[in-house]
Amino acid sequence: MEGAINGLRANATLSELSEAGLLALADKMKRLQVGRGSVIFSYQDDGDALYLLVEGRVKVHLHDADGRELILADLGTGAIFGEMALLDDCPRSATVTASENCLLATLSRLAMMEVIQEHPEVAMALLQMLSRRLREADQVIFDLALRDVVERLARLLLSNAKPHATDGEWLSVEGLPSQSEIAARIGASRETISRTFAHFRRTGLLHSEDKATVLTGAFIDRFDHLIGS
Ligand code: CMP
Repeated sequence: MEGAINGLRANATLSELSEAGLLALADKMKRLQVGRGSVIFSYQDDGDALYLLVEGRVKVHLHDADGRELILADLGTGAIFGEMALLDDCPRSATVTASENCLLATLSRLAMMEVIQEHPEVAMALLQMLSRRLREADQVIFDLALRDVVERLARLLLSNAKPHATDGEWLSVEGLPSQSEIAARIGASRETISRTFAHFRRTGLLHSEDKATVLTGAFIDRFDHLIGS
């Protein structure tokens, strides 16, 4: 599929494949376009294809019976998803929804097996991707088990922050998701997120500036142990 090669090159692990491996994968992929808000597949669906995100963003999420949501991942260009059901032949482990209009490339189980037989390095790359995902999931488990909401929110803010334009001691976060989405990402209620932001503002740890959230030097002093952890 035309365009798939760009998505494969944007994937940190797959981009390491030989040109022949990349072309063999791209060649067997089929194009799929989905609109913002479309459910690409749902938790427990049968699945026999994996997806490469060529353009756009998707969220990987789970819901409980009351409709409460946990966002497992927010994926962008180059991400692969849907490989787990393909590999273990079990139903989908989560729901995946397009958060923007997306261009996807799909690869069926049969096509993947054919590519792996000709290019075993592709199997190794998939294993590396799974291993990386498990490391990230370990970090999420650690945060949920051992860190409180204040630290989980601080970590999310720090991981999206860039240096402030004028004050060298501050950081600036632009394009923050809604409070409901932040809640779903860090396993908290929207009310708790709202209260925690209010507490950060009251105590001078952050303030708003145009459309950005500014993390002050006091914020960074208090939470710098979370940077890179
Ligand atoms: P699959 O189980 O086929 O369908 C849901 C997909 O979501 C799954 O494959 C993975 O590709 C992806 N997924 C599941 N859990 C996570 C996670 N913790 N982080 C990132 N992606 C995930």
